[in-house]
Amino acid sequence: MTSELRKRKKSEISSEASGKDDVIELKKEVGLVGGISLVVGTMIGSGIFLSPAGILAQTNSVGASLCVWAGCGLLATFSALSYVELGLMIRKSGGEYQYLKEAYGDLVAFLLAWTSIIVTKPSSFAIIAIGFAQYVTAPFYPGCTPPDTIMKCAAAFCILIITSVNCFSVKLSNFVQIFFTGAKLLIIAALIIGGFVMMGQGGTEYLTNAFEGTTSSFSAIALGFYSGLWSYDGWNQLNYVTEEVSNPKRNFPLAIMIGIPLVTVCYILVNIAYFTVMSPGEMLASSAVAITFGDRVFGAASFVVPVAVACSTFGAANGSAFTAGRITYSAARNGHMLNIFSYISVKRLTPFPAMMLNGIIALIMIIPDAANFSTLIDYFTFASWIFYGATFLSVIVLRIRRPKWERPYKVFIVIPAICFIASLYLIIAPFLDNPSLAYLYAAIFILAGLLFYFPLVYFKKVPPFMDPLTCFLQQALEVVPPPMQPE
Ligand code: ARG
Repeated sequence: MTSELRKRKKSEISSEASGKDDVIELKKEVGLVGGISLVVGTMIGSGIFLSPAGILAQTNSVGASLCVWAGCGLLATFSALSYVELGLMIRKSGGEYQYLKEAYGDLVAFLLAWTSIIVTKPSSFAIIAIGFAQYVTAPFYPGCTPPDTIMKCAAAFCILIITSVNCFSVKLSNFVQIFFTGAKLLIIAALIIGGFVMMGQGGTEYLTNAFEGTTSSFSAIALGFYSGLWSYDGWNQLNYVTEEVSNPKRNFPLAIMIGIPLVTVCYILVNIAYFTVMSPGEMLASSAVAITFGDRVFGAASFVVPVAVACSTFGAANGSAFTAGRITYSAARNGHMLNIFSYISVKRLTPFPAMMLNGIIALIMIIPDAANFSTLIDYFTFASWIFYGATFLSVIVLRIRRPKWERPYKVFIVIPAICFIASLYLIIAPFLDNPSLAYLYAAIFILAGLLFYFPLVYFKKVPPFMDPLTCFLQQALEVVPPPMQPE
């Protein structure tokens, strides 16, 4: 049945499959601009509009909070450079999943896939969608918080639209990404220019004596980093789609070296802009700093701020969904997830079932009475950095274990070492500061993946109904197994 379907559809997609018309696979459609948009467009999302107050609350001074923003940018750049080496050496989509598999074997890779597919990827999709919902609903409820149900419906709408776009076409998803990246860069530019104008008019009061009152607590700084790193998350986006990047040796490092410093500079300037019109106290009291800034600086045009923030979050959610689907796809292709999730739509050439799974889990996540936005981010960052840390270490492990592998880009080895130490600190810090059981639960959840790994992956005891179910879904969704993986 599978081969029949495959044969029948081959001819139908031939015109779409530029040049290689007999292969049903994901095409190399991410160029330099697409790559930069994927990185910048996912990194700039909700954080820069929501977390400045969180960082200030932890660091307790304007100067120290700007240092944390810069520090996070540096850490993101170093991290991404370590990932470039891995991405160009192991040219398979799926990011950390592929690298951990090569460095430590199937078990660790499976635990990463399990955590990403069930928790971190859909939760980041859900968190950004909630951010989107907050901003699109706010203008309709001036002076009060929009009802929960309305917010959830708006978030669900965002998830549904983005999942559909990504199921429908890679090209369309790329277009959405580029378009919304453009829109968010415009608003960022407007905030920065507004800040400079305010500075020219004497708004430097809160920027002098900037370090007064700085916290001396080391763990408070780490928690400041937690909020900051959410804003920078997305620095690893390109590693998830390596197989779809055209001319990767050039475009991959270039997109990262342009994208991340660009975001860092934007974030620092936007923060400076905020402080030209807001005292630290006012920033802490404002639930949406960008809106407060817009009200004070743009006057009658301040309505553009919520619209732009909605665009920014929408674009970031799109970037998130795009790559989340690729992790599921890669894990399933290696037998670490049900087979059906590695299948590709014959008509649309997208990893349709994987995209749907991510969308469905994200939808479920927005149903419970929203755990606090920043708490969700803390757990997201905690779980993510466990695996980022393991990946930085894998750069060093693979240098030792696979010295002969071709490395078109070789990162200065101290860089992944610094990133590894930073990630250890980020993982341990919340336990030292305020040992909350929730972090322990998160760690236990990751290990709970073992309960599935041994029966389903290691001993390959797949329930008997899986084959007919896969066959049924294959026909219903018109999907076929992916081509062989590149070696
Ligand atoms: N940096 C983004 C923001 O500020 C969040 C990115 C979430 N991470 C991801 N890989 N999708 O909203």
